[in-house]
Amino acid sequence: MLKSLFRVKPVAPAPHVDAGEPVEGSLQGEGSLKRTLTARHLVLLGMGAVIGAGIFVLTGQAAANHAGPAIMLSFVLAGLACAFAGLCYAEFSALLPVSGSAYSYSYATLGEFTAWFIGWCLVLEYLFASSTVAVGWSGYFVSFITTTLGLPFPAELAGAPIAWEDGGFVRTANIFNLPAVLIVAAVSGLCYVGITQSAFINGIVVAIKTAVIAAFVGFGMFYVDPANWTPFIPENTGPGQFGMDGVFRAATIVFFAYIGFDAVSTAAGEAKNPQRDMPIGILGSLAICTIIYIIVCAVLTGMVPYTMLGTAKPVATALEAYPNLAWLKTAVEIGAIAGLSSVVLVMLMAQPRIFYTMSRDGLLPKIFGRVHPKYQTPYVGTIMVGIAACLLAGLMPLSVLGELVSMGTLIAFATVCLGVLVLRRTRPELHRPFRVPFATIICPLGFLSCMFLFVQSFKEHWHLFVGWTIVGMIIYFCYGRRHSKLNTSP
Ligand code: ALA
Repeated sequence: MLKSLFRVKPVAPAPHVDAGEPVEGSLQGEGSLKRTLTARHLVLLGMGAVIGAGIFVLTGQAAANHAGPAIMLSFVLAGLACAFAGLCYAEFSALLPVSGSAYSYSYATLGEFTAWFIGWCLVLEYLFASSTVAVGWSGYFVSFITTTLGLPFPAELAGAPIAWEDGGFVRTANIFNLPAVLIVAAVSGLCYVGITQSAFINGIVVAIKTAVIAAFVGFGMFYVDPANWTPFIPENTGPGQFGMDGVFRAATIVFFAYIGFDAVSTAAGEAKNPQRDMPIGILGSLAICTIIYIIVCAVLTGMVPYTMLGTAKPVATALEAYPNLAWLKTAVEIGAIAGLSSVVLVMLMAQPRIFYTMSRDGLLPKIFGRVHPKYQTPYVGTIMVGIAACLLAGLMPLSVLGELVSMGTLIAFATVCLGVLVLRRTRPELHRPFRVPFATIICPLGFLSCMFLFVQSFKEHWHLFVGWTIVGMIIYFCYGRRHSKLNTSP
């Protein structure tokens, strides 16, 4: 029994592939995913998944309540943890260009049980994040309709019917969150039709949101008053409130802003030249987003005192202080609506691809591995994930679930960092198109920094994470372990 928990899926050196050739042997008669994505698509997918609620929503509260102007430092710290993990993802995704991301990497290195656990954590990252961001999208959308356009929108159709208060659920006056359900349904439809179409729409959306951010920085910088940056790290006023303690707490919050660059790795099965392009997609999008974030934070905290930024729309709040920039506020709202929808898109694209890989390994029912004969997408998984995300987005209060998203992601990142070292030791001979430089230093640093951020969240919300893990274990022991393809392997 113990042996089966630690069995690893053998790694075959990946041959060089070109468009149209699957790297992974696909299940006989079930078709495979289509290789159409280029390096540019992959960088844009990363940016599509990364730039969203983190910068447009969370930054203000993290600055106002935890870090002050040193929110820039918090972004650097969270970005460093992601950079270490990103290098490890780059090594793995070029070596194993499959759709399962951290799940597949763990299966090849740390064994089946860990792989299942990581796959289960990735559900938190992709499925729950898509719903969380859809709720954020709904907030921006309804506010744009009602305040900017002056149109009516029924409040009871713009929120969850339950809320989390004092450690329990309470009923609210809302029926369900209609816009959140609609955006998830629309995006799921796009994912069903094909990755090329999804990548094309994603490219347009990324162009809109980066143009808006560039305009905010370009015009906002002329209104920066350096006096707003002092004191850079406000004096500590309690646990997690300002001082270095607050900077670390803010880093765990803004970590959410970086989530998504790893979603690029789930498209490895559809990349034309994954060995070359996966590292470019992952590290390129991460580097661009880190630079954008730090510049936006500098302008944001320079334009107004950080104490004013604790709103749900900090970028719009900073612009409200300058009446001659009112026009830009509307553009920022449109940019945020676009930005958040591309995050939902890439997350909803990633989740069925993880399920697809898990089902091909036998750990999930075969139905998740079905590929659409015409669109060559994992369509059954896409429909199921879409329905689950609609339910979560429409009915659940997602504030607490945001922490679950970060915890699941951090565990996946930490495991990937560990996996690189393990595979270097167990299969040193494999050809690695990309290698983490100074792996013996970078990988442990990545593992430790991700675990450090994880512990900060776990201290507060451990019961949610433990509950999620127990449900996952029950499914594994009742289904996955018995149906694993490795049961029948020689
Ligand atoms: N990084 C994504 C966002 O900030 C999840 O919305």
